[in-house]
Amino acid sequence: MTLTKQEKQSLVDLANTARQRAYAPYSNYPVGSSLRTKTGRIFTGVNVENAAYPQTMCAERIAIFKAVSEGEKEFEVISVVTENGGSPCGGCRQVLAEFGLDTIVLIANGEGKLMKEMTVKELLPEAFTPEHLQP
Ligand code: THU
Repeated sequence: MTLTKQEKQSLVDLANTARQRAYAPYSNYPVGSSLRTKTGRIFTGVNVENAAYPQTMCAERIAIFKAVSEGEKEFEVISVVTENGGSPCGGCRQVLAEFGLDTIVLIANGEGKLMKEMTVKELLPEAFTPEHLQP
């Protein structure tokens, strides 16, 4: 699957706009994400923190869970935007791997500049996947 430069930028821009809605009063590290499904639907997510810190949820997982809860389980591309171009945490990599190792991951900074692009397979080598549970 090939994405045009414009498609990538528009996903990054969507995530960066969503990032303004992050609820991150504890870390002050707002994160925005956008995801496009194979059917062409787009979902966004932001990190949502909690005074009980471990109950925080990452932006990527919120985008993924929104998509899955709307019946979408096949993803083409997900973007994540942070101020400094940080990369997805281990938990989010594992959740992404559940739904396909070929999903493209776009990592951008707060200026909306695409810093890195890779697949989930590259982001999480030797991933534990649903196939491992098959007898
Ligand atoms: N965070 C994300 O939303 N996604 C990641 O992949 C890394 C971390 C959030 C969680 C927390 O609200 C803040 O960034 C600092 O860890």
